[in-house]
Formats: sequence, structure tokens, C-alpha cells
Amino acid sequence: MKFIDNFFKNKERNNMKIVGILSSPRGKKSNTLKLMDAALDGAVETGAEVEVIDVAKLNIKFCIACDACHKKGECTIKDDFNSVMGKILAADGIILSSPNYITNVTAQLKVLFDRSPLMVHEQLFEGKYGFSLTTAGSGEADFVLDLMNNYTKACGGNTIGGVGCVMSQGPSALEAAIEKSREMGKDLVKAIKEKRQYPEQEAANKAWRERFKYNLLANKDHWTHNCDYWIEKGWM
Ligand SMILES: Cc1cc2nc3c(=O)[nH]c(=O)nc-3n(C[C@H](O)[C@H](O)[C@H](O)COP(=O)(O)O)c2cc1C
Repeated sequence: MKFIDNFFKNKERNNMKIVGILSSPRGKKSNTLKLMDAALDGAVETGAEVEVIDVAKLNIKFCIACDACHKKGECTIKDDFNSVMGKILAADGIILSSPNYITNVTAQLKVLFDRSPLMVHEQLFEGKYGFSLTTAGSGEADFVLDLMNNYTKACGGNTIGGVGCVMSQGPSALEAAIEKSREMGKDLVKAIKEKRQYPEQEAANKAWRERFKYNLLANKDHWTHNCDYWIEKGWM
């Protein structure tokens, strides 16, 4: 894969880091991987370091709602989640991808989302930018893109958009989506560099924080890490 070669070439040059998340169980045969490869190539061409993580190959268990992350600031389940999230949190940009599975993301990606309440409660994607990629057999690509972009926004990040491809539209649609993914990979690097503003997303985030404060206050006796974090940030 070209982006891996480029990754090593660019490693010395700069520090901008972008993580791409794959979640199709089809490995190298995945249609969605074609979009991710192009997106990461675009990011590397524009000067970013990239890393790809295939969550379908990892051991990420279900969230068990133990509340430990809210109390302690980390997930205590022993599996691959903390390592994956550590890489995401160390990155400036995140590209999420999933095929459309029953008008949703794959279970392999959803399990990562469900393990992320700490990222939501403490807005740990603050200052990060991302976008999403999907392929679908027959439709609803935009809906699946929204699910992934909503996750990024819920964790406090900004989304610059998404690229979807409906495979039944044939090879030319795939070619166009690959090209669009490459351009969006480049644009992600630009958005990070210029710290692009998204006033609508910022307003929604502000409104969420206003509401969520009351949830934290109602749970202040056991969500101790969350509350300490908000006080430290000056959010309450
Ligand atoms: C379990 C399963 C569920 C699917 N559900 C949908 C669906 O609801 N809508 C749709 O348009 N395509 C659906 N598809 C088709 C895939 O989205 C499509 O083939 C996609 O390109 C596969 O991506 P991948 O090669 O990256 O795994 C489904 C495929 C599978 C295996």
C-alpha cells in the first residue's frame, strides 16, 4: 500500500498524525479499504504521518457500563481498546470507515463507539478533525456517514465531511469516490493546519456542554474523574 511507504518517507519531516480506522471484516477484499487507501495517500501527499488500524482484527469487548472510566479516567477492561484509543488521542486527525451494515456501521466499529463514553464526557477529541468513509451495496451511504461523523462530534471533534459510494452504481462511481477520498485526505491536512472553524458545529457543541453539565452535577458523587476534568477545564 502506497501510504505505508509514504508514511516512512514522511515520518522524519513533520509531526502531523492521522489515524484511519477500518472496520470491514473483509480485510484486503474490502471495498471501503479502497476509499481509505486513497484518503491516506492524499493525507500523506500533503505531508501527514498516517497509521491505519483495522478494528475488525482486534479484540475489543463490549462496554459493560461499569462506570470505571467516569470515575478513574480510563477503561479497565483488558483488551485492545486502550491501545487503539491511545493512538486516536495522540493523533490530530481521524478517518473513520465502515461498510453499510443494515443501515448502520459494522458491529466491529460500533463496539469501539460504545467503549467511548469517557471521550464524550470529557470531550477528548477537542481540537481534532475528522471525516468518514463508507461503501454500501445499494444505498443509505449518507446516513452511515452521519453516524460516524456524529461520533466524532459527540467526542468534541470537528468533521469536515464524508465520502460514500453505492457499489451498485458501478465502477465509475467507485472511481469517483476514490478520487474524492484522496481530495478529502488532503483537505483534512489543510483543515488541521489552518485550525478551520465550523461555527455550526461549535454552537452545537456549546449547547451540548450546557446541557451535559447538569448530567454531571447529578452524578457528581461517582463521576469524579469527569467532574474534576470539567472543573480543571473551567467548563463548570
Ligand atoms: C451483513 C451485511 C449487511 C449489509 N447491509 C447493507 C445495507 O443495509 N444496505 C446496503 O446498501 N448494503 C448493505 N450491505 C452491503 C455492503 O454495504 C457492501 O457490500 C459494502 O461495499 C461492503 O464493504 P466492504 O467490502 O468494505 O466490507 C451489507 C453487507 C453485509 C455483509
